[in-house]
Amino acid sequence: MPTDGPVGIHDLTFRTAGLVLPHTELARHTGACVTKYHQGIGQQAMSIPATDEDIVTMAAEAAAALMERHGADRLRTLLFATETGIDQSKAAGVYVHQLLGLGPHMRVVELKQACYGATAALQLATALVRRDPGQHVLVLASDVARYDLDSPGEATQGAAAAAMLIAADPALVTIHPTSGLYTHDVMDFWRPNYRATALVDGKKSLAAYLQALRGAWRDYRHRGGLDVAQLHTVCYHQPFTRMAHKAHAQLLQEAEVPATAAEIARALAPTTSYNELVGNSYTASLYLALAALLDSDQQLDGRSVGFFSYGSGSVAEFFSGTVRTGYRHLLRTEEHLEAVQRRYPIDYDTYRRLHRMHRLPRQELPVNGAQHDLPHGVSGRYRLAGFHEHQRIYECVSPPPLFPQP
Ligand code: HMG
Repeated sequence: MPTDGPVGIHDLTFRTAGLVLPHTELARHTGACVTKYHQGIGQQAMSIPATDEDIVTMAAEAAAALMERHGADRLRTLLFATETGIDQSKAAGVYVHQLLGLGPHMRVVELKQACYGATAALQLATALVRRDPGQHVLVLASDVARYDLDSPGEATQGAAAAAMLIAADPALVTIHPTSGLYTHDVMDFWRPNYRATALVDGKKSLAAYLQALRGAWRDYRHRGGLDVAQLHTVCYHQPFTRMAHKAHAQLLQEAEVPATAAEIARALAPTTSYNELVGNSYTASLYLALAALLDSDQQLDGRSVGFFSYGSGSVAEFFSGTVRTGYRHLLRTEEHLEAVQRRYPIDYDTYRRLHRMHRLPRQELPVNGAQHDLPHGVSGRYRLAGFHEHQRIYECVSPPPLFPQP
C-alpha cells in the first residue's frame, strides 16, 4: 500500500579517491597566492583518482558500507547519477551491482544532468518508496571533476561518491514533498563526448547558478515551501565552497533578511568541511555538504534544512527536509574522516602526469580491444583492474563480494 508517511534518507555516506593534491602544492607551481585558493574560493585540497580508481570503484566503496549495515533484501532499485560516464550505453550502476553481488531482481539505471543528477535520483527514489514503502532504493552519486590544466577551473577539481539509502520512516532526514524547480538553457559548463575535460565560462556559470537559485527559490516559496526563518541552514551544491557563501547571500537578499558576511560564514561552516578538502564532486557535492552538516556537533533533531541542487546547463531544485530525532546514532563521522585522511599526497608533477593520462582518446590504452592491465594504485576494496576485449574489468581486492551469488 502507498504511504503518506515520512520518506527520505535512511543512511548516507561518502568515499573519495585515494590521492590528494593540497592547494599549497598547486600554488607553489601555478604562482597563484595560496590565499586565493584558501579564502578566495575556499578550497584546501583536491582528491585525485589513482589509475585504477573511477566512478564505479568510489561508488562501490560507499554503497558497500550501506549494504553492510542494512543488507540488500529490500533493495529493488539502484539509481546511479554521474556526469563522468564510462560507457555510452551501459549504466555504471550495473558494475556496482555486480561488485556488491546484488540479486538479479532489481532495476539499475544511470541518470545525467550535470551536478543535478543525484537530486533527480533522490526525488525518483522517494516516489518509488512512497508507492511501495517496503522497498529501499540505493542512490549513488559519483564523479571526477576534471578541468584543463592551467585553466581557472583547475583549482576546483575533485572526486567523490555519495551513497544514500532512501526508505520510509527514514533515520536521518525526511524529504518534504514541496520542491522549487528551474530549468534554463545556458552554455555555462558542458563536456562534449570527445572531451575528457569540461568546457566552462566561469563567470557565466556563477551568474547562471545564482539566477537558477533565485528561480528555484521563488518557485519553492510560491508552492508553499518554508520561509528562511524556518530553515536551520541551507546545504548548497558546492563547486567550490565560497560559492555557497555567494548563494546564501543571494537567498537572504531575496528573502529580505539582512545578514553580514560573518553571519553567513557561521551559518554555512558546518556544511563545507568535507567539500573544501575533496574539491568539486559534481553530483555528490550537495550530499557531502549534508554529510558534513550531520557529522558536525550540532543539535539538529527536528530541525528543517534547505537544499539547493544546481546542474550546469542548467537545471536546479530547491527543496527541504527535516532531520529525524536520534539521527546521531547512525552517523559515520569516523568513516568520513578516514576516507579523507587516508588519501596519499602527491606532488605537482605526479598530478600533471595523471591528468594527462585521462586525455581522450587515452593514448596509453589499446583501442583494439587488447588486454591492458592497470597498475595497482592506492584504492580500497574495489579497483579497475584493466581492459580486455573493449570491456572494463573490475575486481574486488578484499574481502569477497558482500552477497556472493550461487
Ligand atoms: P578565477 O577567475 O581564476 O578566480 O576563477 P577569480 O579571479 O574570480 O578569484 C576567485 C575569488 O578569489 C574572487 O573572490 C577573488 O576576489 C578572490 P570573489 O570576488 O568571487 O568573492 N581572490 C583572492 N582572495 C584572497 N587572496 C587573494 C585572492 N586573489 C583572488 N590573493 C572561477 C574562479 C569560479 C571562474 C573558476 O574557479 C572556475 O572557472 N571554476 C569552474 C566553474 C565553477 O565552479 N562554477 C561555479 C558555478 S557552476 C556550478 O556550480 C556547476 C558545476 O559544478 C558543474 C556541473 O553542474 O556539472 C561547475
